[in-house]
Amino acid sequence: MSNSTIGIGLLGMGVVGGGVATVLDRNREQLSALVGRPLELKGVLVRDASRPRAHQLPAGIITTDPREVLDRPDIDIVVELIGGQDPALEYIMKSVSLGRHIVTANKEVMARHGPDILTEAKGKGVQVLFEAAVAAGTPIIAPLLRDLAANEIIDIHGIINGTTNYILTRMANEGADFNDTLVDAQNLGFAEADPTNDIEGIDAAYKLAVLATLAFRARVKGTDVYHEGITKLTSRDFLHASELGYAIKLLAIAERADGAVQARVHPALVPQSMMLAKVDGVLNAIEVQADLTGKLLFHGAGAGSMPTASAVVADIVDIARNVAGNSVPPSNLTLSDSVSVKPISELETRYYIRLTTADRPGVLAQVGRVLGDLNISIASAIQKETDEVAQSAELVLMTHLSSEAAMQTAIERLEALDVVADVGNVIRVEEW
Ligand SMILES: NC(=O)c1ccc[n+]([C@@H]2O[C@H](COP(=O)([O-])OP(=O)(O)OC[C@H]3O[C@@H](n4cnc5c(N)ncnc54)[C@H](OP(=O)(O)O)[C@@H]3O)[C@@H](O)[C@H]2O)c1
Repeated sequence: MSNSTIGIGLLGMGVVGGGVATVLDRNREQLSALVGRPLELKGVLVRDASRPRAHQLPAGIITTDPREVLDRPDIDIVVELIGGQDPALEYIMKSVSLGRHIVTANKEVMARHGPDILTEAKGKGVQVLFEAAVAAGTPIIAPLLRDLAANEIIDIHGIINGTTNYILTRMANEGADFNDTLVDAQNLGFAEADPTNDIEGIDAAYKLAVLATLAFRARVKGTDVYHEGITKLTSRDFLHASELGYAIKLLAIAERADGAVQARVHPALVPQSMMLAKVDGVLNAIEVQADLTGKLLFHGAGAGSMPTASAVVADIVDIARNVAGNSVPPSNLTLSDSVSVKPISELETRYYIRLTTADRPGVLAQVGRVLGDLNISIASAIQKETDEVAQSAELVLMTHLSSEAAMQTAIERLEALDVVADVGNVIRVEEW
């Protein structure tokens, strides 16, 4: 084994960066043996150098000046763990231009700029790996890129946001209210002080853009992914779904459809018998259906210092072995420009509809006429509860396969009916 080290530069030493520094230190010998040369942390960029760190670094390597990491010629691999777009993207692009290999856990940067970064890296002959950007330590990027390379991917259904899955699990199991559960999740550290990206489905949309790009070899950006959050779900939806034999999950779905790709994140009724319906708490799970393998399930932790460090360090080892062997493998990702992304309006699926209506004869006929005029046929209708004082009733409908465009028009027309006090919720039903 050569004694000359492979230099690592860390950008960011928070939850994940701290875990990476710990693993590089604790597993030093094992990693050196795998790579054939020692790995050495040579520079660590942070925002506030005076902040106490859980992991003790050798003297003199922590800095707040990006040039002290980015411009060091003895750093072979830059590991970006700052998060967000700015300044992470700029640092990644600069490092690529200087011929440094990149490891990142940044879903936002990869969802918005991944194809551009990969093209630039290809030109420079450097590797960019990002296993931790989706589902943290649960492998999904490498399987899509390598292990499933002989397959055509048919579809992906995933639970890829632990915060929302925790909230939905509590709402389902305890009949808990959304706002109360969100506060609990924040107190337990499962949700951030500003939870918008999680609860509005933005975080999952970024991750799905990354997965869809790899699965379908298409340029799918975060903005191409339709997203709808979980804030409109109520305990009543969980009650009705459960009685009908369904769980409610925030699903990230990408599928090939007529030569195009459809990618969407939204709450969905999932039959209780399906694997994803049973994935509870902060865990992540991604079901991939491919033509040769059939269905596969990747299931595990989707966050946390050590699970995420596991994926980041595996990427470092992968690149370091190539640096040690002086060979950069050709990129195994060629993206097609001809695959378009279908808008959500072209979706066909089944729907659950919860309405508060007047409690008098003829209501179902009026509702049925609105739906029938739009070619939406009702599979079942249940009047759930009546409020004698308000003279109102709750009506739960399940439709057959219908068009999303028609459903959006139906919601507007239902809201305009005198007999409908409120369209409580409309949730897509997913069975695959
Ligand atoms: N946390 C997880 O479980 C998890 C899971 C999967 C993927 N990820 C991804 O991993 C990345 C890092 O997440 P994290 O949870 O470790 O974040 P974090 O705890 O907030 O750490 C961010 C680090 O970046 C540094 N930093 C922030 N802005 C900076 C700037 N302008 N210049 C220099 N340094 C800056 C911070 O410095 P200070 O320490 O001085 O503040 C901190 O060390 C993100 O892309 C995230 O999406 C995280």
